[in-house]
Amino acid sequence: MAPVNVTVTGAAGQIGYALLFRIASGALLGPDTKVNLRLLEIPQAVKAAEGTAMELDDCAFPLLSGIEVTDDAKKAFDGANVALLVGARPRTKGMERGDLLEANGGIFKPQGEAINAGAASDVKVLVVGNPANTNALIAQQHAPDVPAGRFTAMTRLDHNRALSQLAAKLGVGVADIKKLTIWGNHSATQYPDIFHAEVSGKNAAEAVNDEAWLADTFIPTVAKRGAAIIEARGASSAASAANAAIDHIHDWVLGTPAGDWTSMAVPSDGSYGVPEGIISSFPVTCANGEYTIVQGLEVNEFSRARIDASVAELVEERDAVKGLGLI
Ligand code: NAD
Ligand code: LMR
Repeated sequence: MAPVNVTVTGAAGQIGYALLFRIASGALLGPDTKVNLRLLEIPQAVKAAEGTAMELDDCAFPLLSGIEVTDDAKKAFDGANVALLVGARPRTKGMERGDLLEANGGIFKPQGEAINAGAASDVKVLVVGNPANTNALIAQQHAPDVPAGRFTAMTRLDHNRALSQLAAKLGVGVADIKKLTIWGNHSATQYPDIFHAEVSGKNAAEAVNDEAWLADTFIPTVAKRGAAIIEARGASSAASAANAAIDHIHDWVLGTPAGDWTSMAVPSDGSYGVPEGIISSFPVTCANGEYTIVQGLEVNEFSRARIDASVAELVEERDAVKGLGLI
């Protein structure tokens, strides 16, 4: 089988450093799939990315067929089967929301165009760089020849955080929990939903039986975990974010386990009242390299209000980038 071309942007950053070695080791696509890595960086960081490439060589990974480092998006995405869009413009002091969206538009528009121009016909795109959902929308809108659903954004880190918090509360292992869902935006408005989750086969919300804990502890802990990590580490989550990116693509390509689902931010088809086209997190199952939004879940009042609030934020972000002429 020909090696799979995996493009990683922001390769010299913190997440890049935690991500690349695991991709090359086989954690992303399994132990039988060879990979070619294409590392995209801005010119000032190409040298650092080349240093990481030297270290990748020094690992002598049997599955790593080649590495290319470039600052040219066209080259980086040429023939890409998997594209991990990690590099983004972080918010800095004094920067308004509009400035942040505009700066990211300057990154994700040309990257979307480059994906459109040269990526493989089966390309799968995961946007990690924040604001991830809206950056994914910008890239998607500039790639009209790529099926819209191939553009996804990462809420798997939120999903994993929620699993870990719920497991700790119930004194069970994370593997005992199934069917947890993150809805909405990868932001503090996201909604981690345990009403359909199962713990060792029993309903998780019933096992918790404590709505105050849910509303006042669980949801804010998960939703604000990114900020808590920044506060503690002095830098945003990196290894856990890289791990979640691996999980997201791994499951998309290789499938979700029977009897479970995961969370991915994908273009809405109108399911659960989320406006069509908005890249919002849903419960999804994956099989044969395709994801499907889980249908038919009953959404109670508690959940409805929270899903609606996060989706409203995504609609605002979409309207803001539209207003800036970015889509
Ligand atoms: P970082 O600053 O360490 O690295 C970012 C890298 O991107 C830098 O090396 C920079 O040179 C590069 N870059 C900037 N513009 C680029 C461009 N146009 N093309 C290619 N590379 C470019 O940041 P990090 O800690 O690796 O985080 C990366 C992004 O991921 C941030 O936006 C962060 O907020 C986000 N993040 C998302 C999640 C999530 O769950 N979705 C979690 C953690 C972090
Ligand atoms: C996270 O969830 O850890 C990050 O998205 C936080 C951030 O702002 O980089």
